[in-house]
Amino acid sequence: MIYSRVPGIRRALLVLVATLSCAHAGGAAAEDGYKLWLRYAPLDAGARDIYGSQATGVVAFGRSPVLAAALAELNTGLSGMLGAAPVATSTVADGSIVLGTAASSPQIAARAGALRLAAAGPEGFVLQSTRWDGHPVTLIAANSDVGVLYGAFHLLALMQRHESLARLDVHETPRLKLRVLDHWDNPDRTIERGYAGQSIWDFWRLPGFVDPRYRDYARADASIGINGAVLNNVSASSVYLTPRWIAKAAAIAQVLRPYGIRVYLSVLFNSPLDLGETKSGDPRDPAVIAWWHAKADEIYRAIPDFGGFLVKADSEGQPGPRDYHLTQAQGANMIAAALAPHGGVLMWRAFIYASDDAHDRVRQAYAQFKPLDGQFADNVLVQIKNGPLDFQPREPVHPLFGALPRTNEMLEVQLTKEYLGFSTHLVYLGALYSEVLQWDTFARGAGSTVARVIDGSLDGHTLTGMAGVSNVGVDRDWTGSIFGQADWYAFGRLAWDPQSDPKRIAADWVRMTFSTHPQVVTPIVDLMMGSREAVVDYMTPLGLAHIMASGHHYGPGPWIDTLKRPEWNPVYYHHAGKDGIGFDRTSTGSNALADYAPEVAVRLGDLKADDGKFLLWFHHVPWTYRLPSGRTVWDEVTFRYDRGVSTVRAMSRTWNSLQSSIDPERFYETAAFLGEQLSEAKWWRDACIAYFQSQSGLPLAAGIAPPEHPLSWYEDQVYRYAPGRSQPDPDHGVAR
Ligand code: GCU
Repeated sequence: MIYSRVPGIRRALLVLVATLSCAHAGGAAAEDGYKLWLRYAPLDAGARDIYGSQATGVVAFGRSPVLAAALAELNTGLSGMLGAAPVATSTVADGSIVLGTAASSPQIAARAGALRLAAAGPEGFVLQSTRWDGHPVTLIAANSDVGVLYGAFHLLALMQRHESLARLDVHETPRLKLRVLDHWDNPDRTIERGYAGQSIWDFWRLPGFVDPRYRDYARADASIGINGAVLNNVSASSVYLTPRWIAKAAAIAQVLRPYGIRVYLSVLFNSPLDLGETKSGDPRDPAVIAWWHAKADEIYRAIPDFGGFLVKADSEGQPGPRDYHLTQAQGANMIAAALAPHGGVLMWRAFIYASDDAHDRVRQAYAQFKPLDGQFADNVLVQIKNGPLDFQPREPVHPLFGALPRTNEMLEVQLTKEYLGFSTHLVYLGALYSEVLQWDTFARGAGSTVARVIDGSLDGHTLTGMAGVSNVGVDRDWTGSIFGQADWYAFGRLAWDPQSDPKRIAADWVRMTFSTHPQVVTPIVDLMMGSREAVVDYMTPLGLAHIMASGHHYGPGPWIDTLKRPEWNPVYYHHAGKDGIGFDRTSTGSNALADYAPEVAVRLGDLKADDGKFLLWFHHVPWTYRLPSGRTVWDEVTFRYDRGVSTVRAMSRTWNSLQSSIDPERFYETAAFLGEQLSEAKWWRDACIAYFQSQSGLPLAAGIAPPEHPLSWYEDQVYRYAPGRSQPDPDHGVAR
């Protein structure tokens, strides 16, 4: 199939583009965010001329649905940016884009080079300026069609970012095998911890109606290398395993397949029992074992490239092997065995804490999983949240990373901002993910970063992965805010290459989302990079955690002490009293420090280390303890709350200064959200200072303004109908 552009059409479109630009003189065209970072906005004349000569036509070797998707994307992208769609022609010419796999053309294989193609692996690609029968061309070569697709997206991204295509020499290989979004979507279209509207999966009307939006979702995922989607909530309904619902999932899989995305399902551990098809859920019961095998066979008949299952067991009311006095490995292996004949994988979550376990909650998963190293089947990955608690603004890394050398470990991060102000607060999570990935576990000496644990290089694993709890919903802009899109984008980029620089990723996103102009890019990137530290400051400075209001987790609630289980209560996490503040997790306390490698434990045990990032997570210290900053703990806490508010104020100012460079719709939304964030940062600051002062009894340092209201005012605030709570949540007490 061969394409080139038709000059006549191009001229006509350029006139149209010029007319539209005039209509919007003085401001960019209105945008609603639907196109994400795949906007393919018309290039200015200079860039259009340069790229136009480097994209005169598209020549594809081979035919497949995946290649068709690559061609369709090039068509959309080039016509958007250059003003005319490439159309069919018969020969490679100067400026052609030539694409295909090594197997499809010996010329492609020869030009890309055997070594580079071998290094590209099954999903990587080579993007290269070369000559083809004397013509200068851009080559997209890979070992698979999906590699070609990724290469096409990469080329379009370079153009969107105004990067040079001259002397291209790019070779990319994903470092992780599974790059998966976990949708916490329920059968009724609500989303657990979802803040962007209902689920995009319209199961009720599937498989008859297949929303065209699924394809745009797939395009967005593929553009950043995401290759898996778990369709439903980890707190799973067994309905997804019924024949009618399998057919619905199959219809989604059909749309995602040409984009290299496999479908996975979350399953309830005792599904057969729950569905009334066996008399027990006991993993040793032959009827249960047979049921899982038959179910896997049935799913693979409907979805031949089905990825596998995700399981939340023995956690927050979910059934699990513990109910049958079996280990996590025994439970996981039983289900994994049903998937193995089909090449499916089982992602088994380590997010476990039990109601009858009096131990420090952050130690429980480690205690259960550590002794099981080497016992999980080959097709099982233990999926571990980034921290041992629960997606807080900042946590130390989960001690299980690096602690299970004979187990496939994958990382789970949260894109949806459950504890970080939902979709209204601008917090760039790329910075958070990267902090986790670069954390040195010292499991095999210095340099044993989480990135190297999960890419398998530390312990020689090939089944590797990273999962992100999706922030996508039916909102027009997908993520409930324009800046939430950056977290989706950053997740994909970091799952492709965990060593990537989050600042570089932010800059790439801004260039594709807003503008390539440095006067726009630099301030927005700076704002994004500072935003994560800001939320830590105004919510949980100095290693505080889980002091959000109960249930919905929105807003401050450090005073809450009335919930049934100790570890549901914020007071459990900060232990503030007259004598001081913080959770003693040293050897005089819960000794969670012992779960880390000695080098890490020594550092975390040092009260003066890491600028106090983890101080109150691991230590109970007197309010009057003096920190390296010269301030006492009490003064430092208030200082940081104050600093968080100031940073948000500066973020808001920065954004407002960009009004003339951003289209009105996206400008307004972000400006309004930043206004909200500022007043809520202040709410957090004031409420927490009021509460902690009631414990410390100490005066505020000079320059720290007193809270606007008395403590009781903050305690009395009730936020009903906060989004994201799909079901009564037994583990988080009463909704406020
Ligand atoms: C958190 C979250 C729950 C979720 C759970 C999980 O506790 O609040 O809504 O189900 O994490 O990750 O399983």
